[in-house]
Amino acid sequence: MKHYTSINDIDNLEEWIVDAKAIKKNPLEHRKLGKNKTLGLLFFNSSLRTRLSTQKAALNLGMNPIVMNVSNDSWGIEFGDGTVMDGTTAEHIKEAAAVVSQYCDIIAVRAFPTLTDKAKDESEEVLNAFKKYATVPIVNMESATAHPLQGLTDALTISEYAKKERPKVVLTWAPHVKALPHAVGNSFAQVMQKMDVDFVITNPEGYDLNPEITRDVPVLHNQEEAMKNADFVYAKNWSSYENYGQILETNKSWMITKSLLGNAKFMHCLPVRRNVVVEDAVLDSDSSLVIQQANNRTFAAQLVLKKLLETL
Ligand code: CP
Repeated sequence: MKHYTSINDIDNLEEWIVDAKAIKKNPLEHRKLGKNKTLGLLFFNSSLRTRLSTQKAALNLGMNPIVMNVSNDSWGIEFGDGTVMDGTTAEHIKEAAAVVSQYCDIIAVRAFPTLTDKAKDESEEVLNAFKKYATVPIVNMESATAHPLQGLTDALTISEYAKKERPKVVLTWAPHVKALPHAVGNSFAQVMQKMDVDFVITNPEGYDLNPEITRDVPVLHNQEEAMKNADFVYAKNWSSYENYGQILETNKSWMITKSLLGNAKFMHCLPVRRNVVVEDAVLDSDSSLVIQQANNRTFAAQLVLKKLLETL
C-alpha cells in the first residue's frame, strides 16, 4: 500500500480487523517502528477526534507528529495548473507538497468538499494534488468524498460488538441544521460492502448517496421498515447528492429515538447534535457505542500508519 486514501486501499478487511484488535490489545508493541519518523497532519478543516487520535496513534508507534491548521496558519495554497497567481493564493501545491515531504515521512490531510461544485469535489482536488506532488505516503483524514479512517474504525467496532454472524446493519440519514458532506456515509457504505453483514441504507427521497458507491445495497425510503430487527444503526446526516449539496427538507421525524432504535446498538462518527440527530435517551443509554467507536479511531489510524511505515 503506497497511500491510504480510500476504503479500496484495504486489501483484506478481515485481516485488517484482526491486526487492529491486536494493536488495541498492545498499543505500544511497535513503538520502535516509527522512531525518528515524522507524521505531518495538515488540517484545512476543523477536527477533534481525527486530530487527536491520529497523533496518539503516531505517538504509540514512536513517531513525531507535527500539526498545521493550513487554512488559518499557512499561506493560501493554489491548486490550479498554470494559474496566474495574482489573487489571494500565495503558494502553489507543487512547492508546498514538495517542501512538506522533506519534513515528513508520511503526510495526513483533511480537506472537506465545497458542496457547491460537484465535479471539483469528485475530482478530490486537494487530496489528489498531495498524492501527485508529495514524495511520501498520503493518509486521508477526511476528504471531499471519503473518510476511510472512520470507515475502518466503524468496521472494527461492529466486529467487536456483533453478537451473531452476519448482523443486520442499517445506515440511516438523520436530520441536521446544516448541509453536510457525504464522506462518512460513502466510506461506511463501502466498508460494509466488504464485510459479511446484512446491510441496508435508509434515507428520505432525494437523499440517495452516489449510486456508484452504494451499488447493489438496498436503499429504503421508509426508515421504520429499514430499521426492523437491526443489530446496529449508524446515523449520519448528509446533504442531497442529486441536488448537490442542498438541504431538501429538515424532516425531524427521522431523528433517532429510543423506540425507533429498539434493541439495536447506536453508532455515529461524532460530533453529533443532541436532540436533532439523536435524542439524549439514546446517547445516554447502554445502546450507544459512540464513545467506544471514537476510541477505536486510534487503533484504526495506528494500523494504517504501521502499514505505511513498513513500506518506508
Ligand atoms: N469523526 C470525526 O472525524 O471527528 P472529527 O471531525 O472531530 O475529527
